[in-house]
Amino acid sequence: MRESALGLLQIRSHRDMKKKKKKRDQSTTVVIACIAILLLFFLFHFNFSIISTINATLDRKRLVPKSIRNGKIVHPPPPPTPTPRKSTRAEEISCDRAHHTYDICSINGPTVLDPAASTFFLMDPTSRSISTPQKPLVVEKVRPYARKSENSTMSRIKEVTLVAGPRSPKCEIQHNAPALVFSAGGYTGNFFHEFNDGFIPLYITVNSIFPDQEVVLVISKARDWWISKYKELLRTFSKHPIINLDNDTTTHCFPSATVGMISHGFMTINPASIPSSKNFTHFRAFLGKAYGRSHNLQNLPKSRPLLVLAGRSGGVGRLLLNQNEVKLEAEKVGFDVTVFEPTPGTPLKEAYALINSSHAMVGIHGAALTHSLFLRPGAVFLQVVPLGAEWVAEVCFERSARAMGIEYMEYRIKAEESSLMDKYGKDEMIVKDPAGFRGKKWSHEAMAIYLKEQNVKLDMVRFGKYLKEAYLKAKKFMDKGQ
Ligand SMILES: *[C@@H]1O[C@H](CO)[C@@H](O)[C@H](O)[C@H]1NC(C)=O
Ligand SMILES: *[C@@H]1O[C@H](CO)[C@@H](O)[C@H](O)[C@H]1NC(C)=O
Ligand SMILES: *[C@@H]1O[C@H](CO)[C@@H](O)[C@H](O)[C@H]1NC(C)=O
Ligand SMILES: *[C@@H]1O[C@H](CO)[C@@H](O)[C@H](O)[C@H]1NC(C)=O
Repeated sequence: MRESALGLLQIRSHRDMKKKKKKRDQSTTVVIACIAILLLFFLFHFNFSIISTINATLDRKRLVPKSIRNGKIVHPPPPPTPTPRKSTRAEEISCDRAHHTYDICSINGPTVLDPAASTFFLMDPTSRSISTPQKPLVVEKVRPYARKSENSTMSRIKEVTLVAGPRSPKCEIQHNAPALVFSAGGYTGNFFHEFNDGFIPLYITVNSIFPDQEVVLVISKARDWWISKYKELLRTFSKHPIINLDNDTTTHCFPSATVGMISHGFMTINPASIPSSKNFTHFRAFLGKAYGRSHNLQNLPKSRPLLVLAGRSGGVGRLLLNQNEVKLEAEKVGFDVTVFEPTPGTPLKEAYALINSSHAMVGIHGAALTHSLFLRPGAVFLQVVPLGAEWVAEVCFERSARAMGIEYMEYRIKAEESSLMDKYGKDEMIVKDPAGFRGKKWSHEAMAIYLKEQNVKLDMVRFGKYLKEAYLKAKKFMDKGQ
């Protein structure tokens, strides 16, 4: 599994090759950054079920069109909003495959889903009459996950079919809101990817295609732990029960359906590409809507700004070896410090309440820093960047933090602060020139060294100055009444 993920580094389609070199380098690095984190996930969280078996006992007989079904077909009411264009049947199924990272397809009219076949049938208005000559079959297939160019990832994403003709199956449950179909497979299992490849693309898709409209979420690989972990967020996306594409046994009708997720790139929401110009500030507000119901944290006036020290535990690399010293120093400069060591089981509502009430957050680059999405605009975020992790630090967390109006600060460690120096010596290229050592590609070896082997012991004289600066900014933020 790990080998195949690494194999992605070599993937370059002919079409990509023709694109501008700069763009290519960027996308390569983006893929690499993600793989780096994915690798860590595979190494340490492999206990999640990666491949769940598809229930083979599902009844597929329903798929066989039966002409004698006519008369029993339940026709849905017209869609709540008028379909934008009246078109031929072929045009009612449309796909946009022009993007580098995703494909997205829609049925722009009443449709029946047969989950057993992962197929949306365009509901045939003429199917009541068996005498109507059969129209040509239109078939589109799409894997609803925004990692189009990664063959090995995509091979694990369930393919969904959209067809017009010859006959749609009988409708058993009628929904009045359109279906939005996506996969919670892929990189799910790593907190960073659950946002980067899950909720951020989902947010973009909902706001691009269904602004101010309810949707029914139809999800593949919607595992129980995932649904439970993200229940508040999922409920904010849709108040309708989730339809599980992997084991549902009933047919469902919708006024229309969209299959796929739109991505704007790594941790990116591009307002110019969304009709309602949604940006990261809106996304953060959306998270607030999901988690903002609790008032269990005392909102007592504070005299000292609250700093969340995001720790990494469990021997997964990039440990802060002198965490306690950092905590004491942060207290000395004036912070109240809470050490936050999230696990996959940490309730997000609690994490949100804590981070939303804090004035600053400090941590070493790693998936836990995805919690920076919960910081309030104006709060301080100080990312500690280990050797060799400059680019992943930027694309994973700096971009989104800046887009949310967070006071972003970065502390790049020096060789002396890295455990790699003890191990390899300061004259080794690994230590002296990580970018040169790593080259353009993150090899398996480079990932193991920089992201797994490396621990950090901060120079408290130098880091203390950053803490002091973070304190002054956080204090200013607090004094504004935050
Ligand atoms: C990935 O899949 C596409 C489409 O099937 C194919 O054209 C391409 O060569 C594949 N790339 C690799 C590296 O296997
Ligand atoms: C389908 O799978 C989900 C997720 O594993 C599970 O929660 C649900 O109970 C299953 N439903 C049926 C009908 O088996
Ligand atoms: C988040 O912070 C804002 C502003 O202080 C507050 O209004 C909101 O209730 C907080 N949400 C939670 C869940 O604590
Ligand atoms: C996001 O949009 C809001 C409202 O339109 C705007 O006030 C805010 O400045 C935008 N944020 C950024 C970072 O552009």
